Amino acid sequence: MIYYFSGTGNSRYAAEKIARQTGDRCVDIADIYKGEVRSVVGKSDVTGFVFPVYYGGLPEMVRRFVSNPEIKGHLGGYVFAIITCGGNPQAAGEKLTKALGREPDLCASVKMPDNYVIAYAPATGREAISVLRKADSKLSGLSDRILNRETYILRATLPQKIASTLMYPLYEPFRTTVFFKATDKCVSCGRCAANCPDGAIKIVRGRPKWVKNRCQHCTACINRCPSEAIQFGRLTENRGRYNIMKLGQGDNK
Ligand SMILES: Cc1cc2nc3c(=O)[nH]c(=O)nc-3n(C[C@H](O)[C@H](O)[C@H](O)COP(=O)(O)O)c2cc1C
Ligand code: SF4
Ligand code: SF4
Repeated sequence: MIYYFSGTGNSRYAAEKIARQTGDRCVDIADIYKGEVRSVVGKSDVTGFVFPVYYGGLPEMVRRFVSNPEIKGHLGGYVFAIITCGGNPQAAGEKLTKALGREPDLCASVKMPDNYVIAYAPATGREAISVLRKADSKLSGLSDRILNRETYILRATLPQKIASTLMYPLYEPFRTTVFFKATDKCVSCGRCAANCPDGAIKIVRGRPKWVKNRCQHCTACINRCPSEAIQFGRLTENRGRYNIMKLGQGDNK
């Protein structure tokens, strides 16, 4: 079983690509929390986790999921983790090991197009395609390693460990929802609420309303709005938008 979390499609793309090559099944962690799929379906020989790095660590939902004793109790014989990142996973692998209570047998990072539009302009166009093609070949190699049950651990360097220690505490206060807003470009399609993995958006009188104080900050609402109507304060104005479907890859789940 491969458990994944994804805001803009990279990690889902990676999980599905590995599943195709290894013959495994993928489950969206957000769907488990929404009650749309049964939590854990028995012990499997292989358990995989695929998710993006956030602030040098784990998205809150992933941390919560892998820390759950039920999940730990169902871990299969071989455990792997693929961490997608925009450039530097820092010490996210070590943070996963800590939350999971054991080191995976294989843990690797894959550079994919950067999506954090709140912090900087995300990858778009040719640049994003070129990053994706390199990711494709890395993912194929990792699938072979997983099929061969190889042991391979990404180890963070000392500067990466220091960066994670400094950056990750910022995630908690920064994942506030107070600065999200929908502009008049909103066409009331409701996709932002449907795409939110955290149930943080409700459509009220045709417009999104953020109903939680904090969310995952996955950027799905901003990056996947078809009208580019969602802003985070003024930080996301005049910045492009990224999601893997825009590159003609993956489907709009
Ligand atoms: C809140 C947030 C924090 C991020 N922090 C990092 C980071 O510390 N290092 C990095 O390389 N990429 C970082 N990124 C970029 C994502 O990890 C990367 O684009 C990932 O592939 C997105 O996956 P997804 O499309 O499955 O959501 C961050 C993105 C977000 C939304
Ligand atoms: S996805 Fe965009 S256009 Fe659709 S309801 Fe949300 S803000 Fe409005
Ligand atoms: S509100 Fe937006 S950024 Fe926050 S979890 Fe939902 S989709 Fe992601």
